[in-house]
Amino acid sequence: MKSSYEIFNGKKVLITGDTGFKGSWLAYWLHHIGADVYGFALPPERDYDHYVTLGLEKRIRHKDGDIQGFSCIFEYMKTVQPEFVFHLAAQPIVRKSYTDPKKTFDANIGGTVNILEAVRLTASVKVLVTVTSDKCYKNKEWCWGYRENDELGGKDPYSASKAAAEMVFAAYQESFFIQRPKFGAASVRAGNVIGGGDWSADRIVPDCIRALENDRPIELRNPHATRPWQHVLDPLSGYLHLASRLYEAPEKNRGSYNFGPDGREMHTVQDVARELISVWGSGEIRITNKKNDPPESGLLHLNCDKAHQVLGWYPRWDFKTSIEKTAQWYKSVKSGISVESVTDQQITEFMEI
Ligand SMILES: NC(=O)c1ccc[n+]([C@@H]2O[C@H](COP(=O)([O-])OP(=O)(O)OC[C@H]3O[C@@H](n4cnc5c(N)ncnc54)[C@H](O)[C@@H]3O)[C@@H](O)[C@H]2O)c1
Repeated sequence: MKSSYEIFNGKKVLITGDTGFKGSWLAYWLHHIGADVYGFALPPERDYDHYVTLGLEKRIRHKDGDIQGFSCIFEYMKTVQPEFVFHLAAQPIVRKSYTDPKKTFDANIGGTVNILEAVRLTASVKVLVTVTSDKCYKNKEWCWGYRENDELGGKDPYSASKAAAEMVFAAYQESFFIQRPKFGAASVRAGNVIGGGDWSADRIVPDCIRALENDRPIELRNPHATRPWQHVLDPLSGYLHLASRLYEAPEKNRGSYNFGPDGREMHTVQDVARELISVWGSGEIRITNKKNDPPESGLLHLNCDKAHQVLGWYPRWDFKTSIEKTAQWYKSVKSGISVESVTDQQITEFMEI
């Protein structure tokens, strides 16, 4: 049996959302292990986005496009004829989903329908991994980790859109994909992902880094909110491992999977800020109580027994290491080291564990 990385060597892989935070790490990693990588997404938002500073434009073939339009993505899939599709494109920010719910639903539900439909109609595709979120579960604010067969739901538009995307996926899986020979599809639900190169607004790590770089206090709205924090390479290693297993044995491995941190690690927003300050070497925290802020869930935790038992997948970097690698990425880049060399080194280091 080939290692999960070897399988991608020379294979055509299409990633939606390659211009984003997770997509750019995944595209670089797949390129690094020899895949022929294609991307489809909206153009990068900033000239310092990870996709841009990594020089991905020169390494992979990317097409600007909107997943809300079916024909554009379908034509591209027909032209590329990929064997693997990773669907990551989405509007992923909870706070933004309150200000633009329609865009969130259109991109995250309608966009997912378009990708699944294009996959259904493209015979070259052997593996589909569609990315939703830990927030797809109906949040009961309980201390147990959500399991893959727990109830879906979401109070805010983002969470509801991801729960709905899961239902769309389940319908395609049951109605079309399981009948297709030698084809494996899965939906994946990762935790709150951190790592270098994320510059999104309203996310804890980029917010902290912007404050630290400018000698401003880090403002925390929900210091006690607990999330399944994990370094970006951990869930991505899960997606790659799952995709390789789907390629080899689709019937055995298809379904839905959580990819989260070790269940014993329960950390708050404040823990993230404190750890970042400690690695950065300076900084302070200010708690802000903005009464008009939209609500966000308080306690969220994933049960990953299925990924452990079915796939043999485990996270490799614990909370402390994940924060350390994240802070080091930003510090190194700030000190003038190239984004490519820091990203490449972290991927190499991760693969060697
Ligand atoms: N970052 C996290 O903590 C986290 C946690 C769980 C799940 N996720 C999921 O992982 C995926 C990637 O998240 P991210 O953090 O990299 O987000 P990101 O905002 O950095 O990237 C989003 C990507 O989607 C693309 N996109 C958005 N709307 C599009 C549209 N209409 N048409 C085409 N492309 C579009 C963007 O261009 C970008 O490439 C998302 O599906 C997100 O919901 C992220």
